[in-house]
Amino acid sequence: MAIKNFDVVVIGGGPGGYIAAIRAAQLGFNTACIDEWKNDKGGPAPGGTCTNVGCIPSKALLQSSEHYEQAAHHFADHGIGLDNLSIDVKKMLARKDTVVKQNNDGILYLFKKNKISFFHGRGSFVKAVEGGYEVAVAGAANDTLVGKRIVVATGSNARALPGVPFDEDKILSNDGALRVGAVPKKLGLIGAGVIGLEMGSVWRRLGAEVTVLEGLPTFLGAVDEQIAKEAHKAFVKQGLKIQLGVKVGEIKATKSGVSVAYTTAAGEAQTLAVDKLVVSIGRVPNTTGLNAEAVGLKLDERGAIVVDDECRTNLPGVWAVGDVVRGPMLAHKAEEEGVAVAERIAGQHGHVNFNTVPWVIYTSPEIAWVGQTEQQLKAAGRAYKAGTFPFMANGRARALGDTTGMVKFLADATTDEILGVHIVGPQASELIAEAVVAMEFKASSEDIARICHAHPSLSEATKEAALAVDKRTLNF
Ligand code: FAD
Ligand code: NAI
Repeated sequence: MAIKNFDVVVIGGGPGGYIAAIRAAQLGFNTACIDEWKNDKGGPAPGGTCTNVGCIPSKALLQSSEHYEQAAHHFADHGIGLDNLSIDVKKMLARKDTVVKQNNDGILYLFKKNKISFFHGRGSFVKAVEGGYEVAVAGAANDTLVGKRIVVATGSNARALPGVPFDEDKILSNDGALRVGAVPKKLGLIGAGVIGLEMGSVWRRLGAEVTVLEGLPTFLGAVDEQIAKEAHKAFVKQGLKIQLGVKVGEIKATKSGVSVAYTTAAGEAQTLAVDKLVVSIGRVPNTTGLNAEAVGLKLDERGAIVVDDECRTNLPGVWAVGDVVRGPMLAHKAEEEGVAVAERIAGQHGHVNFNTVPWVIYTSPEIAWVGQTEQQLKAAGRAYKAGTFPFMANGRARALGDTTGMVKFLADATTDEILGVHIVGPQASELIAEAVVAMEFKASSEDIARICHAHPSLSEATKEAALAVDKRTLNF
């Protein structure tokens, strides 16, 4: 079998990998991308966790379930009456699958458009060769590639509780949680993190009784405390049962579902009986099948590939990006690293600013933030000013009928430079973009306060929160 030579071989076709491949091809490199994800017919399904069992399908279900919740509880406020509201879960899941497929097909099209050679199968290191590395592809076709440069973007997998493997029927990872065929009467989730809250929201909106068991005593510890408190209040009001500071014990599949033994924060022994259990306690980097040992690629104790600040591994010419390396496990972080690595390979100065990577939790209300939280600034001893503005005082939010939450600015006490922006409320995922731009340009809160924002819009709450830093809100 003839060896196929490339300037750049990317292993993994998730947002880190396929974007790295596109940027490398744009820069004139002869580029290959290897991805092993299969669709239900065994065909290629590039896009990784994000497209297949992450960002995209979860947002499709969040949208469907939000429509249902609006119809069930809020249409009446607008004078819209509905008889016999129902949910066809199979149709909702089929729509989600169509959205996923559109994204898979879009990426295959982008490979063609950018003249990237796509290989469907598992890529593993064979050996270092003169001027590069040999990588074997095992899949629909078996190929041997040699890349002068290798970019590893093999992503992450859901972390299981010790001794409790996912069966994707009763004990579910993110994958099974996106494929539940009927609304469970009772749903349990372990971990009140991003997946726990997003997936818990989907199934609660559709009628499940949802209980979330969280090990830590604080709710969303990485989020600004004031924002987390406001979000917690809203979720509890909606009916999510969130128990903090619990210690999860034995988990058993029963005839009718799953039983979870746990100890509450107050030390009481309890058992939770549910139809389905989602375990969402974080993710582990994935290097299964990469054969990292063959070339001496260094991993850390968590199994992540060790990289420097610029995504260089311990091997010359081998780079790694996305969930398989340190840093937040976010699709846009993976993409930024992919672009930066391709540019560094081309001798350019690719750069990722980790201080301005935004976070979004797509619940209702949405939670979004960029930069530092108030508790981080306090811990660092940094003098700061804070300004908040509630959506309750925003005309557009009232018209939408969604006035939960606020925008919060944190700015340096002396220079007024924006240090963090935190939002809980409607469209927080879109509103945060302005804050990211402002921080990238090292704007002050006064800069935002002096910019004309359209009326009536939710973005006026951002302007008002910036004005609040100087204690001069206009509408509150
Ligand atoms: P991945 O997307 O995991 O892609 C890795 C790819 O490499 C996979 O296709 C895998 O099959 C392939 N692969 C692995 N090993 C090999 C091999 N040896 N050979 C060939 N192919 C291989 N992030 C956000 O920013 N926003 C969100 O809204 C969001 N929602 C999420 C919701 C859920 C339920 C989950 C689980 C995650 C979510 N994330 C979200 C996180 C996001 O999905 C990841 O951060 C992102 O997918 C990481 O991209 P990646 O390219 O590093 O890895
Ligand atoms: P997470 O890290 O967000 O949350 C895990 C939660 O589980 C934490 O609160 C942790 O304290 C808790 N936990 C850990 N072990 C536990 C135990 N034994 N018992 C009880 N609680 C325990 O992880 P999650 O939700 O699994 O998501 C993984 C990652 O995927 C996220 O961190 C994020 O990077 C990414 N993601 C991003 C999304 C977005 O950007 N909107 C959406 C979903 C996932």
